[in-house]
Amino acid sequence: MGSAGEMKGPVAVTGAAGYVGSWLVMRLLEQGYTVRATVRDPTNLKKTKHLLDLPEASERLTIWKADLEDEGSFDEAFQGCTGIFHVATAMDFESTDPENEVIKPTVNGVLNVMRSCKKTQTVKRIIFTSSAGTVVPAEQKQPQYDETCWCDVEFCRKIKMTGWMYFVSKTLAEKAAFEFAGENNIDFISIIPSLVVGPFIMSSMPPSNLTALALILGNEAHYSILKQHALVHLDDLCNAHIFLLEHPKAEGRYICSMRDTTIFELANLLRERYPEYNIPTTFKGIDESIKPFLFSSKKLTELGFKYKYTMVDMFDGAIHSCREKNLIPLKTV
Ligand SMILES: NC(=O)c1ccc[n+]([C@@H]2O[C@H](COP(=O)([O-])OP(=O)(O)OC[C@H]3O[C@@H](n4cnc5c(N)ncnc54)[C@H](OP(=O)(O)O)[C@@H]3O)[C@@H](O)[C@H]2O)c1
Repeated sequence: MGSAGEMKGPVAVTGAAGYVGSWLVMRLLEQGYTVRATVRDPTNLKKTKHLLDLPEASERLTIWKADLEDEGSFDEAFQGCTGIFHVATAMDFESTDPENEVIKPTVNGVLNVMRSCKKTQTVKRIIFTSSAGTVVPAEQKQPQYDETCWCDVEFCRKIKMTGWMYFVSKTLAEKAAFEFAGENNIDFISIIPSLVVGPFIMSSMPPSNLTALALILGNEAHYSILKQHALVHLDDLCNAHIFLLEHPKAEGRYICSMRDTTIFELANLLRERYPEYNIPTTFKGIDESIKPFLFSSKKLTELGFKYKYTMVDMFDGAIHSCREKNLIPLKTV
């Protein structure tokens, strides 16, 4: 699908105002795509200004109102589209009603998106932004993870670790989507990012930065996620979304992750580069000898995708954007 010089799209991006969605819209426009961005409230300039200000936006970007919870909400925006990036998700780790506020909207939302795609008869492929939370959480930790691994939903519901409702929602949504795709002969691909870090264009704090920058922000509840984690640069992730839309042989699930690490390695990196922050050196209940697990992106790299960014690029980019937008203090000591 699509090659240089050819008219590309139209493609739609759900959750286009968010951290991943807005960067993806920017890269799609740069690469010549006509883009339909869906947001819940197009009249809220705080949510749309960074999109409308993008170069090429006046020629090739349109903003559409759509909500995951409303059946048929995406029908109009998707009409005539050749590809759909389903990026939107309900993500609230603090939710007091996780079943109704996070799990249901995410699972029903992906099915709403797919039903709207089916109606168009023009959509050739759907790229679903999944999460490492659909792969890793389970009682028995593995030294290595690939696309055959699935999160243990019952374990998450029982343990209720930080972010459990998000892991459950994404797992049930991805499974429901593959089932629907199989039954309806839809070309459906999921991309499974690890923790996404990097510079951003949205004006508010990306929710995932509460985890990625937890050591700077002092968000101790998120340390368990950072204990052993994997990382990918936002720009690499968005380029991988486009790569998978365009690659004729892409199929199934693809982990998109560039670096496996631990909370200790991250703390050392941040302490060295940003001595102005009071980065902890020890973490209650976490043994210093822990090793990273392997979150393998081999399937994606074997298809030909190349990562461009290092862990330093990720954190320098994120911290720079946060400081520029006054979202984190300049120092904590
Ligand atoms: N960031 C990460 O580290 C990370 C890691 C792995 C996977 N992911 C995945 O990447 C995707 C994007 O995440 P993100 O980090 O960009 O988060 P984000 O900035 O919070 O963006 C999520 C978007 O989803 C939209 N949304 C929420 N509830 C909705 C609803 N009921 N109907 C329609 N839209 C709704 C929001 O739209 P409004 O603008 O309308 O409020 C928001 O812009 C998600 O699918 C997430 O699971 C992210």
